[in-house]
Order: sequence, then structure tokens, then C-alpha cells
Amino acid sequence: MTRLIKEPREVSKGHMELAFEWEGEEPHPGQFVNVKVDAGSDPLLRRPFSVYDYENGILRIVVKRVGRGTNRMALYAADEMVDILGPLGKGFSVPEDARVLLVGGGVGNAPLFFLARELREAGSRVTCVYGMRSAEYVYCAGEYRDACEEFIIATDDGSEGTKGTVADVMPGLLDRTQYDAICACGPLRMLEAVTGIAVERAVPIEVSLENYFGCGVGLCVGCTVETTSGNRRACVDGPVMDGSAIVWSSLEK
Ligand SMILES: Cc1cc2nc3c(=O)[nH]c(=O)nc-3n(C[C@H](O)[C@H](O)[C@H](O)COP(=O)(O)OP(=O)(O)OC[C@H]3O[C@@H](n4cnc5c(N)ncnc54)[C@H](O)[C@@H]3O)c2cc1C
Ligand code: FES
Repeated sequence: MTRLIKEPREVSKGHMELAFEWEGEEPHPGQFVNVKVDAGSDPLLRRPFSVYDYENGILRIVVKRVGRGTNRMALYAADEMVDILGPLGKGFSVPEDARVLLVGGGVGNAPLFFLARELREAGSRVTCVYGMRSAEYVYCAGEYRDACEEFIIATDDGSEGTKGTVADVMPGLLDRTQYDAICACGPLRMLEAVTGIAVERAVPIEVSLENYFGCGVGLCVGCTVETTSGNRRACVDGPVMDGSAIVWSSLEK
């Protein structure tokens, strides 16, 4: 069991940060933890969340409230003991001395903060494009700004940063800079668009898929993704995968 250090902290509209005292294996950016939200049977299945950050024995996640499980998590009290499995899955590559473009959408920005910090530590230069519907949902922007060499917010309605989607921002950056890799996380439609741009520009692309998971440990095939080399289970073969190998038309968006 893992101790929640303090009450969930509201970081923007509908989003909260949960910090746990972590005694398990050290996570790698892009990996996730699988939370048994309630000790009872509702909800029955664990809920997966990307590691937002890990440092000095503290593991943080950012949770968007969308339903039964996440609303229950909002009610956690400080010192609550929570059943958490992890770290699970395959994370992002962390190249040394590279130029890396991070592209996130919505709560899918979460794994990119930890990734940005680790990339900087490995001597890589990081640009992050942080997409969100509007300003009120933007969370932890200060932390991202500190972790990245360049940090750009894009909102659909222009209420903060550039008006438009992350896919609108990418071409200008790619015209200006030769990136060695692109890493992305967000809604499937966004990931498909970002992958299309990366492939067109011949930049390697890794995406973290946040499709529906069942067991989260490779047993139920509920998370199967079609790729150019056959079916893969996102929970164990991912969630981070080569975006150019995914058959995007096979995914429910
Ligand atoms: C690898 C991975 C990493 C994730 N990381 C994060 C994270 O860092 N922060 C975060 O807030 N969420 C993350 N998610 C999504 C999160 O797991 C779901 O939002 C959560 O399980 C919903 O639980 P619930 O009981 O509150 O919602 P439910 O009551 O089960 O569902 C409520 C609504 O949310 C929708 N929903 C549920 N799961 C998903 C999903 N995976 N994708 C899209 N819609 C969904 C349902 O269709 C329904 O409309 C991640 C998912 C995966 C697979
Ligand atoms: S969620 Fe069960 S196999 Fe991936």
C-alpha cells in the first residue's frame, strides 16, 4: 500500500495532483501506475495514470476528474493508503545530447513533464508544445516552463498562449529546428495528426497511448493496438510506441 502524502491538490479546473510516498521501483518517464481506486469493488478495475513526476521518493500523478474512479480519488484524505501497482509498461526513450520536441494535449501533457526533466538531465534540449482546450484547464505551467528550454502553450480558443492546436504550432517549429525526436501524448486524434506531421518531416516519433485499458498487465487484450508488425498490447508493449508503426484507422477515436 502506498501513502498519499497530502490531500489531492486542485491544479486547474477539473485536474488534481496527487503525491505519494513511493517505495517501489523507480519509474521511467512514460510509464504508468495502476490504481485500485477504492478498497471495495466499485470500481472493480484499476485505473491507469501516467507518472507526472518522480523525485526523492515522491511520485506524483495529475488526474482529470471524468467519472466514478477519478471522482472517488478526489475525496482521498491525507495519509490515505492506496493500492497502487507499478511502474508498468514501456516508457519514452531518453536520448543524450539530442534536440527533442514534446507535444501534449489535455491531461496527456502529464507524462511529458517527467520526460522533460529527465531529458534535460541527459543533456538534451527540450521544446514543449502544451495543448489545452482553454486557459482554465492549464495546469502546472510553471513547472513545465522551468523544465524546458522552450515552452509554448496552445489553446483552442486562444485564451492562453497561441490560438490553435498543437498540430498548428508544429510546422513552424520544424521549419526552424532540426529535431532528433518527437514525443507525444494526448487524445488519439491529436496523436494521429502529430504522427502524420512527424512522418512527413522524417522525424522519429514516439507516442504514449491512453486508450482504454482493462487489466493493465497484459492478460485481457482489452488494450490491443494494430501495428504494421502485428497486434500489440498497449499496457505491456506500450503505452509508448513508435507512432509511425501504429495503424491509426484501427483505433476507436
Ligand atoms: C496508459 C494510460 C495513462 C493515463 N494517464 C492519465 C493521466 O496521467 N491522468 C489522467 O487523468 N488520466 C489518465 N489516463 C486516463 C484515465 O485512466 C481514465 O480517465 C480513468 O481511468 C477514468 O476512470 P473513471 O473511473 O473516473 O472514469 P469512468 O467512470 O470509467 O469513465 C468516465 C468517462 O471517461 C471515459 N474514459 C475512461 N477511460 C478513458 C480513457 N482511457 N480514454 C478516454 N476516455 C476515457 C469513459 O468513456 C467515460 O466517458 C490514462 C490512461 C492510460 C491508458
Ligand atoms: S489492459 Fe489487459 S492486456 Fe492490456
